[in-house]
Amino acid sequence: MLSPSKAASFYAGAALFAIAASSFVQYRLPVGVPIAAAKEDPTRSAETVLTSTQGTPAHQALPVATWDHDIAPLLYAKCTSCHHPGGAGPFSLLSYEDARRWAPQILKVTQSRFMPPWLPEPGYGDFAGSRRLSDKELELIKSWVAAGTPMGNTEDAPAPPSYPSQWTLGQPDLVLTVEEPYRLAPGGEDVFHNFILPYPLRITHYIRALEILPSVPSIVHHANILIDRTAEFRRQHPLDWKQGIAGMELTVDAGDSFDPDGHFLFWKPDTPVVIEPAGMPWRLGPGNDLILNTHLKPSGKSENIQAEIGLYFADSPPTQMPMLLELDRDDALDIPAGRSNFTVEDEMTLPVDVQVLGIYPHAHYLGKEMQCWAILPDGKKEWLIWIRNWDIDRQSVYSYKRPVLLTKGTVVHMRFTYDNSNMNPHNPHDPPVRVKAGNRSEDEMAHLWLQVLPANPQKEHQPDPRLLLEEMWMRSRLRKMPNDYISLYNLGTALAGEGKTSAAADIFRKILRAKPDDGRSWNALGTVTESMGDWKQAQEIYKKAAAIEPENCDARFNLARLDLRQDLPSEAETSFRALLGSCPDDPDVRNGLGLALLAREQYAPAQTEFLRALTLNPSGALALDLHEHLAFAYVQTGRLDDAISQLREAVNLARADPAPHSLLAQVLAQAGQLHEAIEEEKSALRLNNKDAEGWNSLAVYEARSGDKEAARQGFEQALRIDPNNLRARANLSHLIEKR
Ligand code: HEC
Repeated sequence: MLSPSKAASFYAGAALFAIAASSFVQYRLPVGVPIAAAKEDPTRSAETVLTSTQGTPAHQALPVATWDHDIAPLLYAKCTSCHHPGGAGPFSLLSYEDARRWAPQILKVTQSRFMPPWLPEPGYGDFAGSRRLSDKELELIKSWVAAGTPMGNTEDAPAPPSYPSQWTLGQPDLVLTVEEPYRLAPGGEDVFHNFILPYPLRITHYIRALEILPSVPSIVHHANILIDRTAEFRRQHPLDWKQGIAGMELTVDAGDSFDPDGHFLFWKPDTPVVIEPAGMPWRLGPGNDLILNTHLKPSGKSENIQAEIGLYFADSPPTQMPMLLELDRDDALDIPAGRSNFTVEDEMTLPVDVQVLGIYPHAHYLGKEMQCWAILPDGKKEWLIWIRNWDIDRQSVYSYKRPVLLTKGTVVHMRFTYDNSNMNPHNPHDPPVRVKAGNRSEDEMAHLWLQVLPANPQKEHQPDPRLLLEEMWMRSRLRKMPNDYISLYNLGTALAGEGKTSAAADIFRKILRAKPDDGRSWNALGTVTESMGDWKQAQEIYKKAAAIEPENCDARFNLARLDLRQDLPSEAETSFRALLGSCPDDPDVRNGLGLALLAREQYAPAQTEFLRALTLNPSGALALDLHEHLAFAYVQTGRLDDAISQLREAVNLARADPAPHSLLAQVLAQAGQLHEAIEEEKSALRLNNKDAEGWNSLAVYEARSGDKEAARQGFEQALRIDPNNLRARANLSHLIEKR
């Protein structure tokens, strides 16, 4: 109970994710779109029926489409999310007059499928929010235009949807505003710009929804939000970060914790709110920056943009943690000038069953065709996406209507084709030039991200399935780039998290041979060395890490923690207090200091530190420890009621964990509330009925409450589970003697 957790939580895993155009979100709110207007997707049979009835009397008998009955509902469902005043489309289609004026163009762009923008091929992945028009819808538009755009009955026309220009979900819990407005020139090339928005609060929140108000919606083409866990990007640009930094893609550091940011935080102008599914909010904490990675289109006049991000907090941390996996062949991109069918492929074999929630393929202007499919262990082929004509301006994250189950052993395959000829209208070079991978828009990329959720919960004594996915993913990256630092580091932390400590140590040593000044890898090597039991060597390694990177709190924290572990509480107290200078808001440091004070029997100051740590970190595993530590400190000063209320909080935080129930039972019994103690201990045993100590404790409370028969049964049960349990044996004979 009394061990602080930095190293422990650090073993849990990986860090430093290289996320290129990165975290994106997929669940969208159709704003104000009448649901009744959503039409069934086409099926292949419907298509054949329509073509075979072309020109027949049955076809001619179809009633003529009218605005009130057919066209208004269709446009409101598929077009006006962009085509409304202030929206992303160049004109409004909200009124009959608007639609009538644009009717010939509407006919043309819908028949050619230029509008609504939707890249995936039907039948190759079933996506939520598909904008694709069915053949029946195309036919309705055709018949409406052919008949001279009839109105129908004015009174029957549905009311147009409304598109609020302010926060759609109401006032956010927190609004972040870009520090300085950015001036976009009236003309010229598209601009790719990254705005940095530091998270200003001192406690961690979990975000269930976000909304972006771009200030000039029509010029922000799309945006990705990245979470820079260590604010490294801002530190790299000390002088100019407030105006934002140019660039199409960037890599951010996921920090030193295995908390993969498994979310697509992807925003498009017609889907202003990005809402996470229930149970899957994402974490945002002190020291994190959000980076708004935008694609801006000059509008013809000069514009000042100052975006705001609205964040909505979830009440509790996530219960399900999705993860992003990436297929990637940037290393193979070297596209000769003029080649129209340059192809790259990548694949990965899944080590566990997963549900695929969403997919995000990404290339730049030369990308043409994108395919991704899975071959299941039984040989069945499951298509995940097929885009025939990629268009970077229409890129999107696609989420599946129903998660796609891929079982362990499935091979996921991607194939991208590039057109570097002058037949490609998007080719930025005329004449074409040789193109390689890179972050500028005239470079290329071959990325495909999958958002997956392990299909089965973690089994007892087995590693978190996400660690196995991480290990597989990093090994797959290393096959392509054997010396990639990020992949090596993440592989090392994944292996450490799986308990494969010596393999992990080998990886960190390999990194350190190439980068002897990498304090983070020294610290990681220290934690695996410590977990292999060699804390003396670990201590030397931490010292080295701390000397290399004195401003990094982790290694110094681990040193202080080792003092505590070696029963040197006053040394530990001094070290933790020194650490507070560099990281006063680190709840682990407050917890460590509290534990050092506990060990020195300074109970009241210890309580203060635990309480501070709890305000900084009110949920999650550390909070559970903190409630327990605080309860312990209260018991020492006789504040049993306060201890009980802390343990009740602990029980609430971890309902499936028997330990807090048992602790609560102990303190309740100490406070003379035997009946409640018995109930709590029974709750603990319902969660784990093989716990001999638990049966023994239950029997003790029962004996004290006078129920000798129940007590006898309890001691006997404890002894059945563990015949060598001396306490239960002694208690049982004592009970029999007293009879
Ligand atoms: C995701 C946003 C979006 C949706 C949804 C959308 N449009 Fe558009 N539309 C645009 C944009 C942006 C343009 C400007 C051309 C471009 O950038 O692609 C445009 C252009 C047009 C044009 C002018 C084309 C031209 O030749 O210049 C027409 C007509 C049109 N849209 C009709 C529709 C219709 C009809 C629908 C629904 C069936 C629709 N749009 C759905 C964004 C959208």
